[in-house]
Amino acid sequence: MIIWFSGSGNSLSVARTLAEKTQDTLLHLNDAPAANLSGEKVIGLVYPTYSYDAPLKIKEMLGSIRFPKDAYLWIVVTGGSIGALLGMYLFRHKTQHRKFTLGVPAMP
Ligand SMILES: Cc1cc2nc3c(=O)[nH]c(=O)nc-3n(C[C@H](O)[C@H](O)[C@H](O)COP(=O)(O)O)c2cc1C
Repeated sequence: MIIWFSGSGNSLSVARTLAEKTQDTLLHLNDAPAANLSGEKVIGLVYPTYSYDAPLKIKEMLGSIRFPKDAYLWIVVTGGSIGALLGMYLFRHKTQHRKFTLGVPAMP
């Protein structure tokens, strides 16, 4: 099972590729708290990094997902400053903060 969250599609694309290659199934983060994961031996999480952190939605919802105790968990976090820059100006997020307007283009 691969639980995914994506703002602009990159993480979904990564999750889809991983699901295809591992013959696994996808589950949107919103559906994860209600899902019965008890039979899952391997569970993946795919989400983007926002401002050097996990998206708030991930942090808020992780606690309400019932992960089986014996499941192997893996996480893939997508990132990249070009996406960050596009997202910042597209959604007018933090565009008035010098820390971000100067800091994001300098990110690796
Ligand atoms: C508000 C915002 C903040 C971001 N912050 C970072 C960051 O700190 N580090 C990074 O490498 N990428 C950052 N990014 C880039 C995204 O993590 C990257 O584009 C990711 O692939 C987006 O995934 P998504 O299309 O699934 O939402 C940020 C993007 C946005 C929109």
